[in-house]
Amino acid sequence: MRELKRLWTWRTKADSQTANVELKGDLPAHIAIIMDGNGRWANRRGLPRIAGHRAGMTTVREVIRACDDLGIQILTLYAFSTENWKRPEFEVEYLMRLPEEFFRSEMDELALRGVRVRFIGDTTKLPEYTQETVRRSLERTRDNQGMIVNFALNYGGRADVVQAVQKYAEEVAAGRSSWAQFDEPALSAHLSTGSTHDPDLVIRTSGEMRLSNFLIWQAAYAELWFTDVLWPDFRRETLIEAIQDYGRRKRRFGGLK
Ligand code: FPP
Repeated sequence: MRELKRLWTWRTKADSQTANVELKGDLPAHIAIIMDGNGRWANRRGLPRIAGHRAGMTTVREVIRACDDLGIQILTLYAFSTENWKRPEFEVEYLMRLPEEFFRSEMDELALRGVRVRFIGDTTKLPEYTQETVRRSLERTRDNQGMIVNFALNYGGRADVVQAVQKYAEEVAAGRSSWAQFDEPALSAHLSTGSTHDPDLVIRTSGEMRLSNFLIWQAAYAELWFTDVLWPDFRRETLIEAIQDYGRRKRRFGGLK
């Protein structure tokens, strides 16, 4: 553990040198990322698609560190959508095994940083081994007080809205809520993200410019930032570029400045 601490201090120092850029404007409290382009990254190198996912996992580690160093409060990562089940079985299984590998290697550092891991999406449909990882990482980081990292696994924005309404309807049926009180905050509170701060900045890599069913309710007023960079090539510097661009935006939320 002491060794890890030393390593971490060294890394933080090295990181803060890179992060020592002047960030003008507001810092987004919540960044959400659609991590796209793993397959193309691998294809361009003549590698199997799963090699792209593996490289993408390394980027996940780097981006968590960078967000934590920069003082981001919530990071939400789109790791597997409700539509991704349509991929070849082999690729799906590989993606389902990645969380286990990721948390095995990263848990100590996440604990040291006080990161709270959460999951959004219907995790009950994941293979048992993935659910076990979900349970263990929730348990191990439950009491941490630092940055929240939401992993979206089997997540779909429309399904999230539907389950939120269903949950509310159950409360109405049980006499704990009423339809007269059903409003936007009530729906938000029943989404898998709960009443946490909506994303301020949604980043999508690989040149695609769409939300693909990601946080469709929560991102209603998010600033969108797109880059041609493929996810495995996304670096701390790319993140800083996005944050700096965000800082220059004028957010009016439909009103006047
Ligand atoms: C989209 O790229 C990416 C995914 C469907 C998977 C994202 C997963 C990771 C980055 C690793 C997650 C790590 C953890 C710890 C859960 P694509 O395969 O659609 O790329 P393509 O559009 O180029 O084919």
